[in-house]
Amino acid sequence: MKKELTTINHPLVQHKLTLMRCKETPSSSFRQLLKEISMLMTYEVTRDLSLQEVSIETPLCQTNAPLLGGENIVIVSIMRAGNGLLDGILGLIPTAQVGFVGLYRDEKTLKPVEYYCKVPDQLENCLVIAVDPMLATGNSSVAAVTRLKQAGAKDIRLLSLLAAPEGITCMQNEHPDVSIYTASIDEKLNEQGYIVPGLGDAGDRMFGTN
Ligand code: URA
Repeated sequence: MKKELTTINHPLVQHKLTLMRCKETPSSSFRQLLKEISMLMTYEVTRDLSLQEVSIETPLCQTNAPLLGGENIVIVSIMRAGNGLLDGILGLIPTAQVGFVGLYRDEKTLKPVEYYCKVPDQLENCLVIAVDPMLATGNSSVAAVTRLKQAGAKDIRLLSLLAAPEGITCMQNEHPDVSIYTASIDEKLNEQGYIVPGLGDAGDRMFGTN
């Protein structure tokens, strides 16, 4: 079953993304923009959450009104850059649980190697939103999703600020059941595996390293 690919074209998202792409944007602004965009993207990723009518009393009368239907939501940061999306998402879904998958790229094999994994129990009953600002080659996101499936996850969405066509193809080939949400499908990857035009190294931009 092939899930969808959604590009979030909202003008606020596109405006903030352009500011993030600018190389002069300092880390403090970059982090703030990422937080704001992650909130706006969360709105789209959670669009189909179920609602339940509950009986409440307003100051004027009794009425029925909708509340979230009780899906267990887990946000999984694909470290380290995924951490930059957590604040914004948790601002909108404060009851979400949070997991972490840490991967680095082996210099010889160029394959992702897991160095950390801590995710909530019973992922099989949860909507899991994996977050990584950059879907570049797709290797680390694919490895993270594979790990989440090993931990039981069945309903997984991937939220990536920017995506390269190569990364999308890789994810759709390996995990066709995972819906992808992105703010932009950029042109290509360069020889170093950076998204072009992109925004550079998201972790470095966020944390002031290089
Ligand atoms: N990771 C990044 O941080 N930036 C890219 O362009 C590609 C992968």
